[in-house]
Amino acid sequence: MALIEWSPRLQLDVPDMDRDHHRIVDLMVQLERQSTAGEPRARLDTTFRALGETTRTHFADEERFMQSIAYPEFAAHKVIHTTLLEKFATHYEAFRTGSAAKVDSAVFEFLTFWLRSHISGIDRRYADHVHNGRGAHAK
Ligand SMILES: [Fe+2]
Ligand SMILES: [Fe+2]
Repeated sequence: MALIEWSPRLQLDVPDMDRDHHRIVDLMVQLERQSTAGEPRARLDTTFRALGETTRTHFADEERFMQSIAYPEFAAHKVIHTTLLEKFATHYEAFRTGSAAKVDSAVFEFLTFWLRSHISGIDRRYADHVHNGRGAHAK
């Protein structure tokens, strides 16, 4: 059974951020499916890198969004993004410089943790800020 999938818990009702999160989860699902199916390392590498690039862009967009709504926890959230990118880079480098045919299960555990604790936990806090009418762009 697949470890990673979209869940309603991840829905923030902030359309631009939900769209980005869908893209990120789609790439996570694709990476897990390709790895499980035994696809060539080059294809896993392409998806792995795309996930990193999509995430980096999303974090930058999300940080601009949080600033636009004068989100008070912006600085702490940005630090968490930096830490996540560092952990992601460590996992990617281990894959890139290794020779394993599949992506290590530790990577998928990390990705699952990221979804559970970051998107549905930490990201939800700025969504709550918007939906409670405290954000400049409340909708
Ligand atoms: Fe996010
Ligand atoms: Fe975030």
